[in-house]
Amino acid sequence: MSLDDRRADFPALRERPNARGPVYLDSACMSLVPQSVLDAMVEYYQDFPGCGGRSLHRFAEEVGRRYEATRAGFARRLGRADPRNIVFLRNSTEAINLVAQGLDWKPGERVLISDREHNSNLVVWQRLVAERGIRIEVLPLADNGTFDPEALEQRLARGIRLVSLFQTSNLDGQSLPIQEITERAHDHGALVLFDGCQAAPHEPIDLDRLGVDFYAVSGHKMLGPTGTGILAAAPGPLATLRPLVLGGETVEWSTLTDHELRPPPYRFEAGLQNYAGIVGAGAALEYLARLDATEMRSREVSLNRQVTGALEDEPRVRFLGPAAPEKRPSIVAFTLEGVDPHDAALFLDEGYGVMVRSGRHCVHSWYAERGIPGNVRASFYLYNRSSDADALIAGVRELLERVPSSGTSAGTTGSAPRPASGRRRGAGSRATAARSARPRHRVARGRARYARGSG
Ligand code: ALA
Repeated sequence: MSLDDRRADFPALRERPNARGPVYLDSACMSLVPQSVLDAMVEYYQDFPGCGGRSLHRFAEEVGRRYEATRAGFARRLGRADPRNIVFLRNSTEAINLVAQGLDWKPGERVLISDREHNSNLVVWQRLVAERGIRIEVLPLADNGTFDPEALEQRLARGIRLVSLFQTSNLDGQSLPIQEITERAHDHGALVLFDGCQAAPHEPIDLDRLGVDFYAVSGHKMLGPTGTGILAAAPGPLATLRPLVLGGETVEWSTLTDHELRPPPYRFEAGLQNYAGIVGAGAALEYLARLDATEMRSREVSLNRQVTGALEDEPRVRFLGPAAPEKRPSIVAFTLEGVDPHDAALFLDEGYGVMVRSGRHCVHSWYAERGIPGNVRASFYLYNRSSDADALIAGVRELLERVPSSGTSAGTTGSAPRPASGRRRGAGSRATAARSARPRHRVARGRARYARGSG
């Protein structure tokens, strides 16, 4: 299938009258969905809109079949032999919360996280420090993507119950050696949880072979609808988790005074489920299964090389993470000296139809430690093409030309970092970049809200 044919599968990529782009470079936040996923969701409501697992009529039987087929699809993609080890949840955040809050923590037990985890793998641990007396150990990582096994060993030697890390960072695109970490953790008797959000969309994985205990994934980053996440667990550890929510479909039986829970995964799937979304996620998995992951990866690397190569000689551009694009294939994250990242994002969108993410990417702790207010992040996926990278490069160059390095646009990182003391709501963002330095190709559409300064 040619790239043009593939792009035609994604309705959101269609051109709009009087608009540049769309150049969608924000798939690390949320990927686009192909028509087959939309069709599958409509099919659910049009053809078999029933309650899975409850009623016995034909609609219910069909939704039940499709629900379990999606579970089997996730198991195949992630290398879990038994689909019963896949739990449907809303997203990877909920999956991490299920593990964190579902384990029977004793005071003083430790979780090990890295110094650049998404809030979804940080805040819940902080709450457990307060509520259950657990302790958080932090593994510092190198910005250049080099992994230090000694640093891991030192922390494991302190007695860690669970190692909870990203597989691929949403901040800088670096990946951790999942097999080595799992083996070392197990040698010390620790469980492992990986946030696979930024990895699973790009390549299949073999969780059973790797021995990973818990793996969290969001469907909305891998061509699926929003509200479709899963926890892919190993059977032993899964059975030890206490469900977060109880109700319909979680019990074998109940009396007015007692109940017995169903076995996993059903005990974790309380209430009427997101059937349309899960049916859509099944179609997304089928779409992904037809693609060549190696070809996808090499395309992403090539786009990343194109952007990195074009901008690395710009003295005001500073990349985050490993220097080599091969070590952060789907993500290019950078600061622009003298330009507020939100201004940059608005400028790129308005002038070039280029959609990127700006801010702290829900990793506030990393920015707080460094006194950096945020950065721009472009992320690539299977529908991006070389002209998308060209548009990003042209937009950044024009912005740098328009905004002098003295920093009339709020000033971001580079030579004069600004302390990241809380949220900045549009501070400085109404300054030059998005206003006085209007993009040459600006498409007028009147924005009421500028840079919300969010993470
Ligand atoms: N939604 C998060 C991001 O965009 C994971 O990085």
